[in-house]
Amino acid sequence: MALTEWPAYKRIAIDIVSAQGSELICRDGRRVLDLYGGHCVNTLGAGDPALGAVLARQWNNWSFATNLLDHGPRREFLTAFEPLLPSGDWSVFVTNSGAEANENALKSALAITGRRKVIGFTGAFHGRTAAAARVSDTKRPAYPASPFESLRLPWSDLAAAERAIDSSVGAVILEPIQSLAGVQEPSAGFLAGLRRLCSASGALLIFDEVQTGNGRLGSFWASQHYGVLPDMFTTAKGAAGGFPIGLTVARAELAAATPEGLMGTTFGGGPLALAAATEVSRRIAAPGFLEHVRDVATRFRAICVRGPVQSMRGEGLLLGLVLHPGVKAASVRDQLLAQGVLVGTCDDPSVLRLSPALNLPADSPARLSAALDVVSSASSTREHVSSGARP
Ligand SMILES: Cc1ncc(COP(=O)(O)O)c(C=O)c1O
Repeated sequence: MALTEWPAYKRIAIDIVSAQGSELICRDGRRVLDLYGGHCVNTLGAGDPALGAVLARQWNNWSFATNLLDHGPRREFLTAFEPLLPSGDWSVFVTNSGAEANENALKSALAITGRRKVIGFTGAFHGRTAAAARVSDTKRPAYPASPFESLRLPWSDLAAAERAIDSSVGAVILEPIQSLAGVQEPSAGFLAGLRRLCSASGALLIFDEVQTGNGRLGSFWASQHYGVLPDMFTTAKGAAGGFPIGLTVARAELAAATPEGLMGTTFGGGPLALAAATEVSRRIAAPGFLEHVRDVATRFRAICVRGPVQSMRGEGLLLGLVLHPGVKAASVRDQLLAQGVLVGTCDDPSVLRLSPALNLPADSPARLSAALDVVSSASSTREHVSSGARP
């Protein structure tokens, strides 16, 4: 029998042969506007020439280095990343993925506090490793046993958090906006309330900024957007514009208190990933970059609540298009694709997600709006089609 792939993903029926910026190019020459962006990965779009040149230069100069050696890309990354950080002294540990970044945040938080319990939230998604899956919601199968005690609280319910966060809790982990759950924003005061409860109990507050970080909300981090500082935060996806990376960022004194030998990685912090992350950090911090994110987001909100879309939620370029009752997201996704626009689905079958490249063309909202008008007149919108969403 010929080799087959493990059937983890239900693929979208479209034959893409290449991609440039926010355009996917099909075998038949058709161009599709990519408003999904590889779920927040393509910060600078596909095939960014400057990022490509950085990677080629680094490969030719020094392709891989053990973490026992210092190298220029490491120093350059620390310099380029530092201006993006919230105020205060921070330390960063570099790995290869979001799940790994969360795994290290949780492991170090429990080691530093000497506690055994972690609190997560309904709707959460933090990855598929043992610890990350444990603090994710239960919809996906995971390991039969947990590496620590855990409690899942209702999302955005501060009263439940008041009851649960005590001196037995080592860490509270959350996405400031829950993406896969359907772009669920926190209720007013929820993040600040968690900050207060964690400070009072000695639990460490961890923001998973795998999707909300790296400029996506129109500020560098959700913590800046909401004005609430965590003790640690993680990111991945868009941080190196498509090159695998995971970042665990902690207040410097917490990093210093982490037991020696707890953290380690072979590929994490390699020169290629760090050269890519340096380029992405510089570009996000360049004048006008975040203004563009905010301007295009405002335009989406202004002209894309139409046809099958009842309302829009989210911040910056992490947007949830809430469809009219009974309208199936997967069906609308397929019809938009037929009109040359790719959007994402999520765990909520009545919500579509936009998580495009942050430097997408300014006319993108107009293209989505025109495609939505065609979908609105199509009759098959209310058929049931399962969403098949996967991060
Ligand atoms: C919020 C969030 N955290 C963590 C992860 C896991 O990241 P990775 O797939 O890189 O392990 C994801 C992936 O979708 C995510 O959306």
